[in-house]
Amino acid sequence: MVGSVQVVSISSLKGGVGKTSVTLGLASAALAAGIPTLIVDLDPHADASTGLGVALSGPQQEVGRQIKAGRRGDLQANAAVSPWTQRDKSAQGPVLDVAVGGSFGTVYDRPDLRPRDLRRLKTLLEKTTKYQLVLIDCPPSLNGLTRMAWTASNQAVLVAEPSLFSVAGTERTMRALEMFRNEFNTSLNTTSVVANRFRDSSTEQRFRLSEMRRMFGAQLLNPVLPEQPDWQQIQGAAYSVHQWPGESARSTARHFDQLVQSLTGTSGAAKRPRVRAAAP
Ligand SMILES: Nc1ncnc2c1ncn2[C@@H]1O[C@H](COP(=O)(O)OP(=O)(O)OP(=O)(O)O)[C@@H](O)[C@H]1O
Ligand SMILES: [Mg+2]
Repeated sequence: MVGSVQVVSISSLKGGVGKTSVTLGLASAALAAGIPTLIVDLDPHADASTGLGVALSGPQQEVGRQIKAGRRGDLQANAAVSPWTQRDKSAQGPVLDVAVGGSFGTVYDRPDLRPRDLRRLKTLLEKTTKYQLVLIDCPPSLNGLTRMAWTASNQAVLVAEPSLFSVAGTERTMRALEMFRNEFNTSLNTTSVVANRFRDSSTEQRFRLSEMRRMFGAQLLNPVLPEQPDWQQIQGAAYSVHQWPGESARSTARHFDQLVQSLTGTSGAAKRPRVRAAAP
């Protein structure tokens, strides 16, 4: 790894809140901005690999096998080239590679990984030479794989929906992350939250979003990501949102452009109040 590579993990304890969608949106924005990027699909479900339309070719192996190989592993040599790069006519020699996910990684998704196992992904990323940005899509748990991602990252992004359970869980996850950072990792210097799937028409969601602003302060990244009606169709077609037609996709693409910029300039924030019950 050369220079100031940003390694950003995207995680949440709760499933289905948009980790993979945020990873794909950031990947799309990074590609549009011409930032050489590696996506590490650490979820054994491999949704990011599916959304990016990649498959292993020839002797290439999924990311879990590289993690097992340890110092002999090679993420760069085993990374698949995203077909999004072939559709991108604007960028100069675009780089968007994918360390492809798969079920082998589940062997590391235990709650009791030893510190030397937690460092496996970090060691692999330190050997890469091609990327300025690494985005790690995590499974919905705080077990070994997510902790391995946090250990490898200098930025941790938690994804939350503006709903009671998601916000309360994110607050607990943030505390777990801070404890983890104090205990294991010195290079994790920024923790932030992305609010996803916001519906402005919902009173409850507006309440939860204002609660998130109070709780997370400057750690809540701007902009908030609204409900995007085309998302499933875009992901189903394995397309980049920047390459999808229509004003709605263009608006989402602009949100992710701003998030990529925010991720390079965000700093951790002050103390947050606890979650409160909703107003009637
Ligand atoms: N902003 C959004 N607007 C509309 N749909 C969304 C949005 N974000 C995510 N979705 C949809 O919600 C579903 C779950 O999203 P996604 O797979 O990104 O969540 P996840 O947190 O990665 O899930 P998992 O925990 O299973 O890995 C997907 O069908 C996705 O298309
Ligand atoms: Mg996912």
